[in-house]
Amino acid sequence: MHVFHQIHSLREALAEERRQGKRIGFVPTMGNLHSAHLALVERAREECDCVVTSIFVNPLQFGLNEDWDKYPRTLAADTAKLESVDCDYLFCPDEKEIYPNGMAEQTRVIVPSMTDVLCGASRPGHFEGVTTVVTKLFNIVQPDMAVFGAKDFQQLAVIRRMVEDLCLPVEIRAGDIVREPDGLALSSRNSFIGDDERPAVSQLYRSLCWIRDEIQAGHRDFLGLANQAAEQIREAGFRVDYVSVCNSHTLEPAAHDDAEITILGAMYTRGARLIDNVSLVLDA
Ligand code: PAF
Repeated sequence: MHVFHQIHSLREALAEERRQGKRIGFVPTMGNLHSAHLALVERAREECDCVVTSIFVNPLQFGLNEDWDKYPRTLAADTAKLESVDCDYLFCPDEKEIYPNGMAEQTRVIVPSMTDVLCGASRPGHFEGVTTVVTKLFNIVQPDMAVFGAKDFQQLAVIRRMVEDLCLPVEIRAGDIVREPDGLALSSRNSFIGDDERPAVSQLYRSLCWIRDEIQAGHRDFLGLANQAAEQIREAGFRVDYVSVCNSHTLEPAAHDDAEITILGAMYTRGARLIDNVSLVLDA
């Protein structure tokens, strides 16, 4: 695997791949890689001749009181993991390379409405940081396709909208959520879950699945279902950020006749904020 820290040297190498007619796949990450990330690399490999992964813990998408400084930096282990799945290029720039004029002066990319709700309501500015850095990374790598994990469902929906609105020539693919045996979705932040909290944290997933089963059984009081699920999570000992039944494309509260529905939730453990989602398609 070729490792690059600078934009100009990565661009030169990828220009040569492109001259050879290769299709380039891209997996942007913040590192601390686990098997869900590696599955994204494998997903890119299925459709592309050349796979690029980036590792950059993007300060622009963290709020002042969030965990940017504690976010695990594990570059040596990540490099070995990427080599084990035959990733071709790793791009790991530092902050100066990505924000040479400083973060305050950085031109921003903003996707309206969709970014103010759900995670965006409790993490103001987060999605602006994500869309800005992803646009920069797309411009640096110029991939034919990019893969994002479905666990960050709102992020995926926001990036799809950005790509559509800005006519970016990148195909977006979703990588499946990878789960522990009890249902907990793999996440770099799972390392912040206390051992004593661990047995109960899969309540988030269980409650989202409970809503899905109720909807499949014909219940349509989405708000009532979300409130009951939030109560289940509180009873398991966690502070709830939100539970919401949404239209899978717009992320607006689902209407009774919506066919494609995603149930999203976020809750706090002592040391982490965990998110998850479950999608379903109803018969017309
Ligand atoms: O999902 C992530 O890891 C990040 O939000 C991303 C897409 C790499 C942008 O920093």
